[in-house]
Amino acid sequence: MEIFTPLAPEFLADPYSRYAELRQTDPVHWHEGLGAYVMTRHSDCERILRDPSTFISDFRTVGDDAPPAFLSLQTLDPPEHTTVRRMVLSAMRKVEFDAWVKAVREEAATLLRSLGTEFDFVTDFAEPLGTRSMLLLFGMPSIQADETAYRSALRKLVLSMDAGLAPEHGPLGMEARAYLSELIEPWVVSPPTTGLLSHVGFDAVEAEDHRLFLLNSLRALFVAGYSSSSSMLGNAVRTLTEHGYFNSPEPRDFTAGMAHELVRFVGPVQAETRAVAKDTEVGSQSLTYGDFVVIIVASANRDEAIFEAANKLDLSRDASKHLGFGSGIHSCVGARLAISVLCEVISDLSKNFRIDLAGDPIQRPTATQRGLDNLPVHLNTR
Ligand code: HEM
Repeated sequence: MEIFTPLAPEFLADPYSRYAELRQTDPVHWHEGLGAYVMTRHSDCERILRDPSTFISDFRTVGDDAPPAFLSLQTLDPPEHTTVRRMVLSAMRKVEFDAWVKAVREEAATLLRSLGTEFDFVTDFAEPLGTRSMLLLFGMPSIQADETAYRSALRKLVLSMDAGLAPEHGPLGMEARAYLSELIEPWVVSPPTTGLLSHVGFDAVEAEDHRLFLLNSLRALFVAGYSSSSSMLGNAVRTLTEHGYFNSPEPRDFTAGMAHELVRFVGPVQAETRAVAKDTEVGSQSLTYGDFVVIIVASANRDEAIFEAANKLDLSRDASKHLGFGSGIHSCVGARLAISVLCEVISDLSKNFRIDLAGDPIQRPTATQRGLDNLPVHLNTR
């Protein structure tokens, strides 16, 4: 019987014990439905992420069809990936980072003031804050879209990441990408005067394919920033609440080291996929050109070979070897932003409030990106 069933309710409730079983018994697991090898050990996952000439992200090289809207930073290999990533990173470096963090912190405080003592942490706080933080980053004043359609597109994109397991979700993703590109494109073409888009220099890019890759990458960045950060914040606050963190008598500053431990322990990105471009081996398994591998970074992050008592949240540990932001040439471009927001928001929450759950958290039925649909909370002012 197949043991890697990420969308099954019992798996969604606790993927980590299943990952442990796979690491122990079948670390290079063939999954017939996915048509891919599922990698669960830290050493294998890290090696694959750090060898982008053998394990590639642009599946056109192995004969897969990729619609133009799909081609972005995340799905390109060098040299195109290098060119687009340089453009994005160069624009990101010009953003006034401290001012951005301060603005996101103020948005969080304003949102909290409007919410009262009992609310849904995910839908009322983390998701709206995710959108606001990306608008602030891009320098866009508002999303200028119907709120319901916008939220539904973001949800469809997260669902579509599981298309390998639930093929019916594939078309939803293409629909959502088209919708979100339409929202963002006018701002890329006629950029605002401040923020990331003002530094991208889209006009100066002459090659038609590079313009498309850049536009798609900016959309991917907006979506990755929104969805990973909001899922992370929901997962983090749930975990900290369940561990009694917000009810400690003397709240402390939440440090970057603590935030990395949360990314290790309950990071939203569970899996990444690569294709094999050169024959190779992982463990005792031979892999040949055209094979696919699914790298379970969330399993690598619980690997006892790297992290002592890996199933324990330990905010004082050195979690720096975690793969929750990936590793190598595709590693997360927003990691520093995400860590800063986590530190500021959790510090402010814990200094100002005691937090308890006001109901059962509801897990979102998604596997690639783990998050909550709902997290009812009760806040008491300190
Ligand atoms: C806690 C929050 C976040 C987590 C856990 C996270 C996680 C990740 C991971 C695991 C990857 C690697 C994917 C791969 O190797 O295939 C990645 C890539 C990426 N992330 Fe994040 N991310 C977060 C926040 C952000 C933010 C805030 C932004 C944007 C501001 C962002 C933008 C990106 C982009 C554009 C890539 C693709 C990079 C490339 O392929 O070269 N992420 N992220």
